[in-house]
Amino acid sequence: MKLVDKYYRKFEYLRLSITDECNFKCNYCLPDGYQRTHQKQFLSQQEINNLITAFAELGTSKIRITGGEPSLRKDFPDIIKQISDTDGIEKVATTTNGFSLAKNAKSWFEAGLDSINVSIDSLDANTFNLITGKNLFHKVMQGVEACSTAGFKQVKVNSVLMKGLNDHDLVTFLAWIKNQPIQLRFIELMQTGDNNEFFNRYHLSGQSIKETLLSQQWIPKLRQVNDGPAEVFTHPDYVGEIGLIMPYSKDFCDNCNRLRVSAVGRLHLCLFGEEGVDLRHLLQSSSDKEQLKSTILDALNDKKSSHFLELGLTGGTPHLASIGG
Ligand code: GTP
Ligand code: 5AD
Ligand code: SF4
Repeated sequence: MKLVDKYYRKFEYLRLSITDECNFKCNYCLPDGYQRTHQKQFLSQQEINNLITAFAELGTSKIRITGGEPSLRKDFPDIIKQISDTDGIEKVATTTNGFSLAKNAKSWFEAGLDSINVSIDSLDANTFNLITGKNLFHKVMQGVEACSTAGFKQVKVNSVLMKGLNDHDLVTFLAWIKNQPIQLRFIELMQTGDNNEFFNRYHLSGQSIKETLLSQQWIPKLRQVNDGPAEVFTHPDYVGEIGLIMPYSKDFCDNCNRLRVSAVGRLHLCLFGEEGVDLRHLLQSSSDKEQLKSTILDALNDKKSSHFLELGLTGGTPHLASIGG
């Protein structure tokens, strides 16, 4: 049995959060910083191993390790290695705020990491600091350089463009990727956690960025079968590419190709509007593998066709740090 839902979407990509702790205070995500409410026990390496083995047997071939900030875990390189050594897993990726990239990109590459997505919301140090609450712009940029020295072929950079905050950075961003193999992805600000007021004030439609790109001869790239929801654009004069992640656009979910597991072992079928299914009790022993697989398959029956954001049905979506974005 493979992970295919009733809308014929195939799920070969799992986003696994390994911690919800983060050391940044992005104003759209954790404006007050990470608040430890109680001592959370995040999945151990053994539990991760049992989980990934089951997903791999169900046809999952790509794992993205997320957080919070995944590299805050001391055993991060061991987790990379363990996942990349799992039969059936062809690609291991991570999404990071980049604070320790300059120091660690090489060791992560050597542990088996295939690709890195880094969040950089502005190329202006002051604006970056304002958004992330951290004075680490230059360090993160050094981290991006360290990725290519370490051997990563392409780095993806995520940027949440916000009205009046960093949307004026578009020109600088485009100039930056002219001669560099970076895929720069603009993400529409999502309404998560209790950022409702913030969302109403700063949300910028990706469609307006799309129109700007099309008017500047950026060309939509043909979609491949397993591409995720990002719409990608190329330009004959640019080495880099642009990706647009527009969850508020019509039909965004038609291309959904991912499932999520939180740092405490809950399976989430979508970022929005559901509580998830607890898998943790099935991760304690490898002898529960068949039951774990059938629980995952059963859960997939409930995956909805869309997040229905346009109908305002998101209901209590936590901030993205808690389910790994
Ligand atoms: P690739 O694996 O390289 O395709 O990247 P990705 O877009 O899956 O990973 P990344 O962690 O860089 O995603 C960037 C951000 O896009 C996420 O943190 C979310 O904010 C958003 N995003 C990714 N997948 C989804 C999704 O399925 N739904 C929604 N609404 N947003 C998503
Ligand atoms: N809206 C859009 N993107 C968000 N991210 C976190 N919170 C939000 C939000 N409310 C993005 C970050 C990072 C990724 C892990 O999630 O910018 O690139
Ligand atoms: Fe941390 Fe990422 Fe949230 Fe920023 S967006 S606070 S880096 S988890």
